[in-house]
Amino acid sequence: MRNFEYYTPTRVIFGKDTHLQVGTLLKEQGCQKVLIHYGGNSAVRSGLLDEIKASLTDAGVDFVTLGGVVPNPRLSKVREGMELCQKEGVDFLLAVGGGSVIDSCKAIGYGIANPWTDVWNFFLKTETPKDCLPIGAVLTIAASGSEMSNSCVITNEDGWLKRGSIKSDLCRPKFAILNPKLTYTLPQYQTESGCVDILMHTMERYFVNFETMEITDSISETLMQTVIYNARILMTEPRNYNARAEIMWAGSLSHNGLTGCGTAGGDWACHQLEHELGGMFDVAHGAGLAALWGSWARYVYQENPERFAQFAANVFDIPCGTDYEKTALAGIEAMEDFFRSVEMPTNLGELGLNLSDEVIHELAFKCSFEDTRTIGGIRQLNRKDMEKIYLMAR
Ligand code: NZQ
Ligand code: ZN
Repeated sequence: MRNFEYYTPTRVIFGKDTHLQVGTLLKEQGCQKVLIHYGGNSAVRSGLLDEIKASLTDAGVDFVTLGGVVPNPRLSKVREGMELCQKEGVDFLLAVGGGSVIDSCKAIGYGIANPWTDVWNFFLKTETPKDCLPIGAVLTIAASGSEMSNSCVITNEDGWLKRGSIKSDLCRPKFAILNPKLTYTLPQYQTESGCVDILMHTMERYFVNFETMEITDSISETLMQTVIYNARILMTEPRNYNARAEIMWAGSLSHNGLTGCGTAGGDWACHQLEHELGGMFDVAHGAGLAALWGSWARYVYQENPERFAQFAANVFDIPCGTDYEKTALAGIEAMEDFFRSVEMPTNLGELGLNLSDEVIHELAFKCSFEDTRTIGGIRQLNRKDMEKIYLMAR
């Protein structure tokens, strides 16, 4: 096992009606003026935004609002948010939404708190942020884990590059309000796409080729089983509170570092490959991951068949003999069967993309940062490997 540091400073307020505490929580943070940042109109339609505003007004917290964050959030909206916050003297950012809104807040927070450079430099990783405006989150979709994570992902329309920021504890939200009921209104596709993302945040940390900690493995395997079990329930019972709650908490635990203790950060190749799809084709992040994962797994599993066999045995109860390769492949198939059972794609065609050789070449070129980097941990992948995986997934 590897040495690790575990730090999760986000205060979590979990359960029914917890979003009504938001005004009090903000007051406790000592803020003067808050930006309420939100997405399209799901939070308007459900009445959530009005409840948030009422809670702030009751607590005597001044605010301005900015909606319009789209999935795969854009740099132009970040810049708009920065301008508004500077004009209005905002000193706290409240995200009401999912990963896209939280990430937009994080980027605005970086932009304002580091006026000495352009905010995109933190995504090019040419500069390191020194500060970030404080952030709180009222989560409306269980998926990204951004409510407790140390990173954010933004798409620059100039070149349609989707890039993750430098990882930094500075952007971890001060608090995250997790009310599972707020996720009742999610379309099925978003619910299940979110479940895949949650699984992937654990799997990215799980598939390594060195010795890991038993306790981290057990937590990860139980988390994956819990998500698989409840994701299936939500296909027919979208208003099942317990299932929504299990998924929501799994989402935060999956990406707050817990499942990476002792695994040196993990692999993350699938996320890197997917980000190019999100940037160029605006696909839902979890669905994009589902479309790529099987191809990635088949490309790399021979680096550590025992690990993939352990996954098959402990997550899918597949009997594991001494033929690790066979068990490993059965585990990969079982995960793809699960994706199909919740109507998630298992290849790019099912994701709705019909990609030419030229486009696949471009995806790999971009993902390899113009042939200057490799990705992955269990196996390091160069541009040619990336191209092969995209082709396998086509
Ligand atoms: O915009 P609205 O109208 O709110 O609709 C959203 C959006 O269309 C809808 N939605 C959210 N809550 C809803 C709802 N619809 C009905 N009822 C509700 N309660 O769902 C759609 C997707 O929302 P989005 O915020 O984009 O989803 P998600 O949380 O999956 O976030 C995806 C983004 O997070 C990034 C992804 O790359 C992607 O850009 N990630 C961020 C990470 C991080 N910061 O740590 C890690 C992840 O790996 C991921 O990369
Ligand atoms: Zn993700």
